Amino acid sequence: MTAIDAKRLLGRIRELGAVGRDGEGRLTRLAASDTDKQGRDLFVGWLRQAGLDVAIDRVGNIFGIWQSPENTGQAPLLIGSHIDTVIDAGIYDGCYGVLAGLEVIETLRASGFSPSRPIAVAAFTNEEGVHYTPDMMGSLVHAGGVGAETVLAAVGTDGSVLGQELARIGYAGDREPGLLKPHAYLELHIEQGPVLEREGVPIGAVENLQGISWQRVTIDGVANHAGTTPMSMRSDAGHAAARVITFLLDRTKASNAPTVATVGTIRFEPNAINVIPSRAVFTVDLRDPDEQRLQAEETALAAYIEQLAAAENVTISVEQLARFEPVIFDLRIVERIEAAARACGLGVKRMTSGAGHDAQMMARIAPAAMIFVPSAGGISHNPREHTEDTELVAGANILLDVAAQLAN
Ligand code: GLV
Ligand code: MN
Ligand code: MN
Repeated sequence: MTAIDAKRLLGRIRELGAVGRDGEGRLTRLAASDTDKQGRDLFVGWLRQAGLDVAIDRVGNIFGIWQSPENTGQAPLLIGSHIDTVIDAGIYDGCYGVLAGLEVIETLRASGFSPSRPIAVAAFTNEEGVHYTPDMMGSLVHAGGVGAETVLAAVGTDGSVLGQELARIGYAGDREPGLLKPHAYLELHIEQGPVLEREGVPIGAVENLQGISWQRVTIDGVANHAGTTPMSMRSDAGHAAARVITFLLDRTKASNAPTVATVGTIRFEPNAINVIPSRAVFTVDLRDPDEQRLQAEETALAAYIEQLAAAENVTISVEQLARFEPVIFDLRIVERIEAAARACGLGVKRMTSGAGHDAQMMARIAPAAMIFVPSAGGISHNPREHTEDTELVAGANILLDVAAQLAN
């Protein structure tokens, strides 16, 4: 059986992982930043070297398309993920799936394989959603979930506008979003969680993905002197924020449900040691595989916030930054992934994705599924993110096998 070129794939993962390092060696390629441009340029160079047609849409999604005169006009098999990163990231999240997609195309092509439909690889813009929300932005636009103009007007955490930044880095493309309507969509990704490693299983066949709710909470109190204001006379936005955060995290920690909650950003104003905070702004990331339970958690948080505002003498406003329902992937593709793993003598496990992925957006317009490989220590969104080379290669070969089936 044909196999991918392990050295080429691993070499590219490392080469891309070296792009966007700061003086301390930390990797950050936020969407539409200068370092994102450098990563994109490297990737597009590889697409051109591979002889693929390169298409870039108006929101910066990049496609490398392999088509022949015989299969032109057929709906393509699309393989994708993202090459933007979080702050101080690892090298595998997203990049592994994109580069493995390219690797699969190059391998099939070199082997003389003649697919009955085009095969394309996609790098979607702003999957991470760190700088501009929502996350999974490029694939959401591709799937028709939001208009291009809306996301191009998105204002980043630094006040920049996404459309202007994409134009500035040369990735506001000329194609209309949604240019490829896939026959099927595949995404290979590191698990980013502990399950596969803990169970000693090398391949995950991802059958569903949990719902995601992102909110921004703004609490307004009154700035006053830290030394002179009696505790009973304060309108302390910082204290109110602490109470919301502990309510949310204590509640999810104490629950037997798989709900997870994170407060990953917080900012006080005026942010001075001897001033009672007049304002606290923080984000809530709430996830659950069950839509009803996710809604119940959102409702519980909203009710707590309402009563807390009165009790703490503050005003609280909440803005929804992203909201995606849980997704169920295509069972036939999940079964193909399982069969491909077993045929290679590899253990395989059906699983739920805890992370958000472009596949959850593409599942709106095409049968879609994902393949996971283990993450050492379950660590991701961290420079210590690691997957063994043998596991990366095994996952890419499963992708190769399933892609060859779906392209025929
Ligand atoms: C994407 O990385 C997410 O937040 O799940
Ligand atoms: Mn990712
Ligand atoms: Mn990520």
